[in-house]
Amino acid sequence: MKNILITGGAGFIGSHVVRLFVNKYSNYNIINLDALTYAGNLENLKDVESKENYFFIKADICDHEKMDSLFKEYEIDGVIHLAAESHVDRSIKDPFSFAKTNVLGTLSLLQAAKNNWNNFENKLFYHVSTDEVYGSLSEQGFFTENTSYDPHSPYSASKASSDHFVRAFHDTYELPIIISNCSNNYGSYQFPEKLIPLFINNICNNKPLPVYGKGENIRDWLFVNDHARAIDVIFHEGKNGDTYNIGGFNEWKNIDLIKVLIKTVDRLLGRSEGESEKLITYIKDRAGHDFRYAIDSSKLKNELGWEPSLQFEEGIEKTVQWYLDNQDWVKKITSGDYQNYYQEMYSN
Ligand SMILES: NC(=O)c1ccc[n+]([C@@H]2O[C@H](COP(=O)([O-])OP(=O)(O)OC[C@H]3O[C@@H](n4cnc5c(N)ncnc54)[C@H](O)[C@@H]3O)[C@@H](O)[C@H]2O)c1
Repeated sequence: MKNILITGGAGFIGSHVVRLFVNKYSNYNIINLDALTYAGNLENLKDVESKENYFFIKADICDHEKMDSLFKEYEIDGVIHLAAESHVDRSIKDPFSFAKTNVLGTLSLLQAAKNNWNNFENKLFYHVSTDEVYGSLSEQGFFTENTSYDPHSPYSASKASSDHFVRAFHDTYELPIIISNCSNNYGSYQFPEKLIPLFINNICNNKPLPVYGKGENIRDWLFVNDHARAIDVIFHEGKNGDTYNIGGFNEWKNIDLIKVLIKTVDRLLGRSEGESEKLITYIKDRAGHDFRYAIDSSKLKNELGWEPSLQFEEGIEKTVQWYLDNQDWVKKITSGDYQNYYQEMYSN
């Protein structure tokens, strides 16, 4: 039996990775470590919380003594590190907490791994990162694994810094590491402050849809389950010390994506086509707003055989339907009630 520590497992992507690993690998104990910040929600994992190979620990990755003792207590063999402050707009308001969690928190996990893994054989520290570390593209070209880092927001600067620390531990101490840099994710269980769930919710409730600038910025969107599948493949078959880009070759201008969301929600709610376009409200552009992200994920395809499983239209349809079917989940978040779930489940 191996003991795999997944950090940030109560968040959006982390909950999909935890679910995949708990269900697929009965030979792994999956230890989900999460501080349950505003972004962590244990209800995301209701369907796996009673499984024998699933464990939850509420802890802050910045608490380095605690990280060190957890590595000893649980005899951790591998780490998949997702815990982070993840919202660019919040990083513009409060960069300090991003430096703390994303940089110092990652460092405290790296130290715990280095100090407790006497022998690095069959050990791996897998760090989940973002394509935003590469900066911004013009109309042409793609980010590859060789693109220089050029972060612009406090969020991407903190993720870039954490990537550098992970690589430094490999180069200095020979810690076995892998880093992946993924494009924007969408799908179920995403906190409704992020573009896609926020807009689905606002369209449903006839609220304004705030679009930065002219909505011309371009993002490359990947279905979250495909990201989780990529993490699975890379964790098991990736090469020690390597970096892998993950993306779906699926670029959308924000304004075009919003129109697809409007069309899909209106159709599923039986409204007339385009009815909710009146909700679009252009607002002042985000400070330092990167123009375009686009990932070249051909290394992952050619070396490890991973490809996205879903076409975007199908992924968006599934996603919109999920938010419509799970209005209770959305309401508990928007009302703040979801934070009681942990207290109810784990108080004894
Ligand atoms: N969402 C995306 O589109 C995207 C794309 C590429 C990479 N990523 C990366 O993937 C990871 C997960 O992103 P997400 O969108 O699921 O984020 P999220 O905000 O939904 O979840 C983050 C989780 O980390 C936990 N957390 C935060 N601070 C912590 C701390 N100090 N100690 C322990 N736990 C803490 C939160 O409680 C939450 O459960 C992040 O590292 C992010 O940079 C995200």
